[in-house]
Amino acid sequence: MNPLNIGGLKVKLPIIQGGMGVCVSLSGLASAVANEGGIGVISAVGIGMTEPDYRKNFRESNKIALRKEIRKARLKTDGVLGVNIMMAVSDFDDLLKISIEEKIDVAIIGAGLFLHNPADFGDSQTKLIPKVSSARVARLIFKYWSEKYNRVPDAIVVEGPLCGGHIGFKKDEILSPKNYLIAIVQEVIKEIAPYEQKYGIEIPVIAGGGIYTGHDIFEIMNAGAKGVKMGTRFVTTNECDVSDQFKQNYLSSSKNDITIIDSPVGLPGRVISNDFVKGIQQGLQRPVNCPWKCLKTCDYKKVSFCIAEALFNAAQGNFENGFSFAGSNAYLATEITSVKETIDQLKREYLEDQLLSEKTIREKLECGV
Ligand SMILES: Cc1cc2nc3c(=O)[nH]c(=O)nc-3n(C[C@H](O)[C@H](O)[C@H](O)COP(=O)(O)O)c2cc1C
Repeated sequence: MNPLNIGGLKVKLPIIQGGMGVCVSLSGLASAVANEGGIGVISAVGIGMTEPDYRKNFRESNKIALRKEIRKARLKTDGVLGVNIMMAVSDFDDLLKISIEEKIDVAIIGAGLFLHNPADFGDSQTKLIPKVSSARVARLIFKYWSEKYNRVPDAIVVEGPLCGGHIGFKKDEILSPKNYLIAIVQEVIKEIAPYEQKYGIEIPVIAGGGIYTGHDIFEIMNAGAKGVKMGTRFVTTNECDVSDQFKQNYLSSSKNDITIIDSPVGLPGRVISNDFVKGIQQGLQRPVNCPWKCLKTCDYKKVSFCIAEALFNAAQGNFENGFSFAGSNAYLATEITSVKETIDQLKREYLEDQLLSEKTIREKLECGV
């Protein structure tokens, strides 16, 4: 696999570990992925929920925990580290500011249009990478940045509808062929090509959502992606920061267990089904007593459950009162391995396809096809 170049930041292995919120991907997983040459990502979403004062002051707790996790990760790796922050959270600006103060290498920003002026962050070296689910949104962001700030993002993440967690598509669009990851990646590549020309830079498109094997990586890179973003695959690693019960929930899931719910974030979410999930899907109300308002648009008096509590409970192994987010391929997990073993396997599978493709090309040339 070719290295990734994000605005001059060199990443040896073009694999970005997806940030997984509410205490799934913290310093343990992120540093392990960074040590293997990829980008290890700490999710800032709900990161402070283990802090003692979270219920009294969620903003301060998130700030403290984020700073702590970035510093812990730095002690374990010299590799490339990132954070993942959703624009939908009410303390988005605080979390981005802390990440930049801590000199994080990349910040991946999803669940909203990222239109902030990068100049507001001074001479920060942090690469700001928006995450989008369509060429239309990519166009909006690039046009806005170019016209307003005379620059464009250093890279872009394109997330298709098979991803774990929140999905940037309406429920009835998830299975539409026009939304296959390959199709969207190719549209986004076309959309940003004029900006690569205008600014004389390369803007890597990084693809995520449903990528689980080295074969998947080969296929999407062949379609033009310069890197991949993988979340689900890294949950079942020793280093993933979540409880063992959460990992076991992946191992014991089957394809039919993976289902979609309506999240209070205002987007569909992909989860592993259980009684809690079935309850929500049947319209059961779980009273929410919200001390924090962590989501900009959430009206806690109207929602049927608290997504932060449900995800936090599951992360701690309490599935009576929660559920795990998971990508459409979560059921493929058969064992818990180290990050190194996982990445070695991805590399082997990628190489197999690469060799096969080179052999096919050679044979065609020899036959004069
Ligand atoms: C358990 C879990 C939690 C996630 N949490 C977040 C999150 O808090 N914010 C976010 O932007 N994406 C989140 N994601 C999405 C990942 O960052 C990544 O984009 C996605 O997992 C890629 O698709 P895949 O799971 O099929 O590999 C989450 C995914 C999973 C599986």
